[in-house]
Amino acid sequence: MTVLVTGGAGFIGSNFIFYMLKAHPDYRIVCYDALTYAGNLSTLSSVLDNPRFRFVKGDICDREAVYKLFEEEKFDYVVHFAAESHVDRSIEDPGIFVKTNVLGTQVLLDAAVKYGVKRFHHVSTDEVYGDLPLDRPDMFFVETLPLKASSPYSASKASSDLLVMAYCRTFGLDATLSRCSNNYGPYQFPEKMIPLMIANATADKPLPVYGEGINVRDWLYVEDHCKAIDLILHNGRPGEVYNIGGHNEMRNIDIVKLILKELGKPESLITFVKDRKGHDMRYAIDPTKIHNEIGWLPETKFADGIKETIRWYLNNRDWWEEIVNGEYKNYYQKMYGNR
Ligand code: NAD
Ligand code: TYD
Repeated sequence: MTVLVTGGAGFIGSNFIFYMLKAHPDYRIVCYDALTYAGNLSTLSSVLDNPRFRFVKGDICDREAVYKLFEEEKFDYVVHFAAESHVDRSIEDPGIFVKTNVLGTQVLLDAAVKYGVKRFHHVSTDEVYGDLPLDRPDMFFVETLPLKASSPYSASKASSDLLVMAYCRTFGLDATLSRCSNNYGPYQFPEKMIPLMIANATADKPLPVYGEGINVRDWLYVEDHCKAIDLILHNGRPGEVYNIGGHNEMRNIDIVKLILKELGKPESLITFVKDRKGHDMRYAIDPTKIHNEIGWLPETKFADGIKETIRWYLNNRDWWEEIVNGEYKNYYQKMYGNR
């Protein structure tokens, strides 16, 4: 089997490539990635020489390049991660989110139909459901909820979800779709909450907590997400949506305190800053469907996963220090300078 992984130089895509090369010793993986600010070829350095792996630099919006690759590789499966993925950036510049996440997805769907892939798996997010109230712990995201996105990021992902479903029905494409909660683990770009807090704490810099820090996210270790996608790719029913999450709701402030404790740093580093515009209050996944239909369950407890993640960032300073000392400095100044 030959599998196209789009966005494989990013956080979840790279972890998925490592997972698939190990889990399926007879599969070939082709990574197609534009290497935007969020993509890092050094992340893939351990597999670049693997004869079952090929890296191709390219933009999913470039129809000609995408068709050429599909023609060449005759993919069996497509797993589509490539996206603009950061909510704060989508508030600053929504246009690129529509371009990459909606139009880029459409190019890939056209290619998948034209070249007859066996299955197209679209990696989406629980953020397409909007948010849940803090005072209703009995409410969860289920697959049948209407889409109700809050940010330009989640709106662009919701649009891509609708396109995937439309290509199933109209063109008979065999597609599956997953909506996962917040991931954490190795190789996450330090603009996202957990690695940002780890990086700042190790440098004794302030930890910028939005609003009162009471927003809740449902955290999942990245390898558990990768395993769920692999299972859906092989055993999911065509045209179906699967939520992925492990009932691990945490308030931002509690995660930040935990990171400080693990690193032996004082809570005085916590700085409450101006809230994010339209900030979603609570995400919480009901994973009953994927459990009942496919047998997936998360394996990593948050207490272990967060320790492992902190250890990874401490042991791999070169990877993220190179990022935070580069163009990211301007981003940080722009987003946090006057907050
Ligand atoms: P990321 O930002 O770390 O990586 C995105 C990758 O896509 C980068 O390597 C980037 O270079 C590439 N890319 C961006 N635009 C491209 C383009 N036009 N053409 C080709 N490649 C392009 O993102 P991530 O956190 O790994 O998320 C991957 C996917 O998973 C996204 O679709 C995201 O919506 C979804 N998701 C993420 C989370 C999370 O917690 N991070 C949770 C649920 C779903
Ligand atoms: P983030 O990692 O950006 O993921 P998402 O917005 O997709 O859930 O943010 C996670 C939570 O952390 C979210 O409620 C916003 C909050 N947050 C902060 O408080 N400070 C920060 O500097 C960042 C980046 C996020």
